[in-house]
Amino acid sequence: MGKRIAVLVSGGGTNLQALIDAQARGELGGGTIAAVISSKAGAYALERAEIAEIPHYVIPRKEHPSNQAMTQALVTKLKDLDIDLVVLAGFMIILTQEMVQAYPNAILNVHPALIPSFCGEGCYGLHVHEKALEYGVKVSGATVHFVSEECDGGPIVLQKAVAVEEGDTPETLQRRIMEQAEWHILPQAVSLFCQDRLRVEGRVVHILPPQA
Ligand code: GAR
Repeated sequence: MGKRIAVLVSGGGTNLQALIDAQARGELGGGTIAAVISSKAGAYALERAEIAEIPHYVIPRKEHPSNQAMTQALVTKLKDLDIDLVVLAGFMIILTQEMVQAYPNAILNVHPALIPSFCGEGCYGLHVHEKALEYGVKVSGATVHFVSEECDGGPIVLQKAVAVEEGDTPETLQRRIMEQAEWHILPQAVSLFCQDRLRVEGRVVHILPPQA
């Protein structure tokens, strides 16, 4: 049976779009995007879900007193929807332990840097690229990892490096990393999960060969 995927978003949703497009091409390993959940009303990602005819929901952070209360509401919704895989695609709320306990090694996050560089609390969205440019790295990239209780600290599934170019701004670097890395490795990681080809051993994720 194909896996039921929920994609959690907070903003523009270009990574969600990459997943929708991969599904349309039959490249999600038999998984189905069964729900899109936004932490913000009015996020453009919700339009993308609407256009693709995917059920979508808003669970606003501001209607919950804490990240923990927000996480509990999300877990309840995900269980109601019978979700197997949770994908954080530009989801800007730090989830608390209840989510990891409900979905052990079944939550994937895309981060716009090569973890363990430029990650952790406060390092999200454009800030990541500002920090990379300030530091002067010549290579950055993106990481897809399983979510653990440590922010951006879970086992790494896929990474892709992207060159920093002379004259880059946080915006140009962000766009290049999305185009060359995030939009490719996120659907690939989801596909591998849906094919049961990821085996986690401690910090290390082994990628198994395709089943004959
Ligand atoms: C993406 O670059 C994603 O990697 C990043 O936010 C952007 C969302 O764009 N996520 C984080 O920084 C999480 N720590 P999108 O809404 O167009 O997919």
